[in-house]
Amino acid sequence: MERTFLMVKPDGVERGLIGQVINRIENRGFHMVAIKMLRISQELAEEQYAEHAGKPFFHEMLSFMTSGPVVAMVWEGPGVIQSVRRLMGATDPAQAEPGTIRGDMGTSISRNVVHGSDSRAAAEREINLFFNDSELPG
Ligand code: CDP
Ligand code: MG
Repeated sequence: MERTFLMVKPDGVERGLIGQVINRIENRGFHMVAIKMLRISQELAEEQYAEHAGKPFFHEMLSFMTSGPVVAMVWEGPGVIQSVRRLMGATDPAQAEPGTIRGDMGTSISRNVVHGSDSRAAAEREINLFFNDSELPG
């Protein structure tokens, strides 16, 4: 069964959008199999976003991602990785289609409410960064 990693970023938590994000993915028929609220450390943020190290927005993004609590989740279902990416919409809310999470709720490219894995390899890596085996169903 396919799994993906989804996070409500600090802007989404601060603005009270956790429930709406969860609703949209549940409505699509997927199942949440793990969830936790946490404050990300600098080290964890650097690891999560390692592919972006050195980019102009990297430093500011890390300081935002560590600025307040986030909600980390694992979702399961057929095709869930790409389906969740489609439900999220484009990275920049100004470009994201209406009806997507970012298109409806995002306020800027850096305040775009959610993070979601973009491939099977990323999903496995990110799930294991945030959850122990004992926190995940077999
Ligand atoms: O999140 P997504 O996979 O759609 O986009 P990304 O290209 O992997 O970028 C990761 C995150 O970096 C984005 O979600 C933005 O929050 C942030 N970012 C930014 O702050 N400024 C940019 N010019 C590009 C990305
Ligand atoms: Mg990405």
